[in-house]
Formats: sequence, structure tokens, C-alpha cells
Amino acid sequence: MTDIASLQQELDGQSPRAILKAALARFDNIAISFSGAEDVALIEMAHKLTDNLQVFTLDTGRLHPETYEFVEKVRQHYGIEIEVLFPDATEVQELVNGKGLFSFYKDGHGECCGIRKVNPLRRKLATVDAWITGQRKDQSPGTRNEVPVAQIDSAFSSDTHQLIKFNPLADWTSKEVWDYIRMSEVPYNALHEKGFVSIGCQPCTRPILPGQHEREGRWWWEEATQKECGLHAGNLIASDNQ
Ligand code: ADX
Ligand code: SF4
Repeated sequence: MTDIASLQQELDGQSPRAILKAALARFDNIAISFSGAEDVALIEMAHKLTDNLQVFTLDTGRLHPETYEFVEKVRQHYGIEIEVLFPDATEVQELVNGKGLFSFYKDGHGECCGIRKVNPLRRKLATVDAWITGQRKDQSPGTRNEVPVAQIDSAFSSDTHQLIKFNPLADWTSKEVWDYIRMSEVPYNALHEKGFVSIGCQPCTRPILPGQHEREGRWWWEEATQKECGLHAGNLIASDNQ
């Protein structure tokens, strides 16, 4: 079992690269969860640290064409495998045939995200000891202010399987991520050139206007405090972020 308090103490205030390095040194079976957006910065850092990089992405079936193109570009640019995870076909069929293709606008994103993102993620996370995300505190004042650099992932751990979650970019701002992407000449999703900042599924993401917070482009018909899709469910319960 990981002593999370001492791990946090060790990593607090460290650079994203140092946090990644420590995470990769501590866990062999660890994977980066790549959304196809600016979290590509993690892949740029990690591919220089290990030859044994595990990266996965959740293909909800509703991503933008630009995101599919970008995932493929990243795979080729770094010469790495990116495991693409799909939702269960029967679950998707039942949802869509029962409620239509846009049920989330009427009754919230929870059910669709549950089927298209959370269930495939749960299956994947049962096979690793730790995962790495691109979450940052400044991404969502409503839900991510307290994101720690390392935590026990209580949402996806079980009695017999403790899962550790690393958020190496937690303390970086959006500007710091983008300075890094530009400085390192990292490829990026073409949607960023069309006014998109935070990128999720096509029907649930829109560009933002000057002065808007990036999270306002996601699930804009819902309350800011509900803007988590279940991948990071612990963020909705502050006490889970220990
Ligand atoms: S979300 O929960 O609202 O969709 P967000 O887009 O802010 O998440 O991304 C935060 C982190 O969650 C990403 O850096 C990535 O680690 C993970 N993530 C989000 N969407 C995906 C996805 N489709 N596939 C894999 N990881 C994802
Ligand atoms: Fe479904 Fe929208 Fe969630 Fe994507 S973000 S899984 S389309 S509700």
C-alpha cells in the first residue's frame, strides 16, 4: 500500500517533469490518460523519461474529427502506441435507441458520460496500479481547486486494488502548459486554432468568448459545480482528494 501522505509531501512543489519521473520510477504498470487536448504536454515529457510508455484514450464515438486526427498525429510523432478504448456497444445502443442521440441536453451528461467514458475507463483502470492525468487546478474553479499532485483514486480503487492517480500538471496554469507546448514544438489539436480551449466531445464542447473561463465551453447548459463527467468523480467530493 502506498503511503499517500509521504508521497504527496515528496512531490508537492515539484515540477511536472519531476512528478512524472517519480511516478514512472515507482510504478511499472502505470498509464497516461490522454484526452487529445493540451495534455499532450505529458506525453512530450514522459516519452523522454521511459521507453515503456503506456498511453490510452477514451473514444466516446462523439469526438471531433480534429481530435481523431490529432490522436493519430501524436501516435506517429512520438512513435508510441496509443490504446483506444471503446464503450460497450450494447450499452450505447440501448441509450441511443431509447433516448436519442442528444439525451444529455435534456437530462444531463451523466448517463451518456457513464456509458461512453466512465465504464471503459473503469475496465482499463482495473488493469493498472496507477494512472496519470492532465488535470489542473485552474481548469475548473467549480471542481478542481483542490486537485493534488498525487492521490488515492477512491472512485476507482476497490478493497483488493488500490489505485494511485497522479496529476503532474495540477499546479501549472493554462499559460504554463501552452508556453511549454510552444517552446518544445509539441503538436497540438487543430481545434485550438478555432477558439476551443478545453476539449471534450463534439456535442458537449464549444469555443469560448474572450474573458470566459475555459470550462464554460463544456456542458454549458449545466451548473459549473456539476461539470465533471465521472472520470474525476472524486473532485465532486472534496474529502476524496487526500
Ligand atoms: S473531463 O473529465 O472534463 O472530460 P478534461 O477534459 O478536463 O476531463 O481532461 C482532464 C484529464 O482527464 C485529461 O488530461 C485526461 O488525463 C483525462 N481525460 C479526459 N478526457 C479523456 C479521454 N477522452 N480519454 C482519456 N483521458 C481523458
Ligand atoms: Fe456523451 Fe457529451 Fe459525455 Fe461525450 S461529453 S460522453 S457526448 S454526454
